[in-house]
Amino acid sequence: MIYAANFKTNHTRYTTKNYIQDLQAKLSTKKAEDKVYIFPPLTALDTFEGDFTIGTQNAYPVKNGAFTGEIGLEQLAEFNINTILIGHSERRDILGESQQDVAKKFSFFKEQGFEIIYCIGESLEIREQGINAVMEHLLSQFEGIDTNYENFVVAYEPIWAIGTGRTASVEEITETHNALKKVVNKPLLYGGSVKGQNIEEIARIKNVEGVLVGGASLKTETFLELVLH
Ligand code: 13P
Repeated sequence: MIYAANFKTNHTRYTTKNYIQDLQAKLSTKKAEDKVYIFPPLTALDTFEGDFTIGTQNAYPVKNGAFTGEIGLEQLAEFNINTILIGHSERRDILGESQQDVAKKFSFFKEQGFEIIYCIGESLEIREQGINAVMEHLLSQFEGIDTNYENFVVAYEPIWAIGTGRTASVEEITETHNALKKVVNKPLLYGGSVKGQNIEEIARIKNVEGVLVGGASLKTETFLELVLH
């Protein structure tokens, strides 16, 4: 299983360092085959040693240049970061990234050999129209994306389940992941209100190979409840 912590706009450089020290001290009991990823805010990126991978929540598809407020490859290389989240619904919907922007970012970081955790997900309005509408939407989010890329992981995160406490049902996750697996034969993560109370049933689903976690990843105790479940 993959356990990925997305801090979003939470934690500071100082608290991230403490978090990682605390986490690392307790990761020794995790299963060897399980993988842990942490996506701290940009100001907390650094070279951390341990049994986990640090990734960036975002970057602009450029080495360096005049892109006020963004970071590029040069800033990531300083900390040997070569893992990135692309396509998160918060970037698509709140920050206005179009599918074209997302695809451009994907191509650039693919060229650089980055491991890409690529997020897709539908709104409640689409979910209520049924699985065919959901799949049509999810597949449209692969437009311009090379789904055969070797360092490619997909995170299915229904928007209506993010930060709402409302997790998709086991049936919904099963049906969606089975359908996704037929088109993208890559590791599939589920994200959306994953927590200690539901990790068992989610991790047991056949085509769920990991979880991408927001709220429950912010404290080491609640994140470890998932990693060590
Ligand atoms: P929550 O776990 O807070 O629902 O967030 C999920 C998410 O968006 C992770 O990227």
